[in-house]
Amino acid sequence: MPIECSAILARCYAIARNAVDIWVLKANSRHTFYDSQRMNKPKVLVTRGDILKSAISILEEKCEVELMPDHSPISRIDLLNKISGKNGLFCLITDKVDHEVLERAGPQLKVIGTMSVGYDHLDINEIKKRKISVGYTPNVHTASTAELTVALTLATTRRLFEARDEIINGGWAKSAWGPLWMCGGGLVGAKVGIVGLGSIGLAVAKRLLPFDIAKIMYCGRQEKPEAAQVSGKYVTFDHLIKESDVVIITCPLNDTTRNMFGPAQFASMKSNAVLINTSRGGVVDQSALVHALKTGQITAAGLDVMTPEPLPVDHELTQLKNCVLISHIGSATLQTRTTMATMTAQNIVNALEGKPMPAQLC
Ligand code: DGY
Repeated sequence: MPIECSAILARCYAIARNAVDIWVLKANSRHTFYDSQRMNKPKVLVTRGDILKSAISILEEKCEVELMPDHSPISRIDLLNKISGKNGLFCLITDKVDHEVLERAGPQLKVIGTMSVGYDHLDINEIKKRKISVGYTPNVHTASTAELTVALTLATTRRLFEARDEIINGGWAKSAWGPLWMCGGGLVGAKVGIVGLGSIGLAVAKRLLPFDIAKIMYCGRQEKPEAAQVSGKYVTFDHLIKESDVVIITCPLNDTTRNMFGPAQFASMKSNAVLINTSRGGVVDQSALVHALKTGQITAAGLDVMTPEPLPVDHELTQLKNCVLISHIGSATLQTRTTMATMTAQNIVNALEGKPMPAQLC
């Protein structure tokens, strides 16, 4: 064989060898990546230590779980530190997940499971940009929140907390049974306006009908066929606040509903009106509410939600007799909280395994 031919053959062989070596190398590194994925469980941060065991067990079966030890919200600094390198996050409405948290998490964060139906604590736009899935807990606490809303409406219209305080502070001993003492509006014949007739609003309406109310009005983005179940009349927001004796807020907090109730709205409400809020405090401009309660623009308010939460003990609202305050307990039944926790865990596990989540928001 001429010298040039064998040189060309040797060169071809070297190129081919090189190509095979590169391919084997690549294949090996791919193999290592898949192997390590299989061996290392995904890492999940749970932001509180008092999450139900049944939910933690669902996570622990498939994931490496870092459970924060405290029975109180994770501090901002801990959230920023602990989220780094995690594949999943189990969080609550007290945990603000924004651009900074997502940056610190890193690109491997695949899923956020929030143990709530509300998601105003999550920066959804940032989350979507990063293609992170979000699981939440819709419909789970419809009944418990509706039940609580009715309890709060009764407590406010019939002045239950005030009447109890009168026993403790000696007011009852002074007044005894007085003809007008502790009289409230009650619900019989009341026109009830529901702001946001979602599943909770509808469930509240159904529970209020047996109290012989006069009618149900509702407002929202669109008319709802299911309103027929409670003979609910679709009206504008302005009409609703002008006409209702009891106004109940059950809409989510977003850019259109933030501070929906401000000075102008309180000024146009009936002076006998009672405002009930079991949605989010941010729907109401709280200083305008304080003014409305102090000046008699409206009669009373019953709030399960406020701004900020927890409300400082010396906040002006706590000084007002005509304001019934309870501490964000709409979904607080053991059964509801158990389902919320286990659904959140399952949302996370399913997303990490590439399966459909029980309840995916995005
Ligand atoms: C929710 O789920 O958004 C509630 O406010 C907490 O129970």
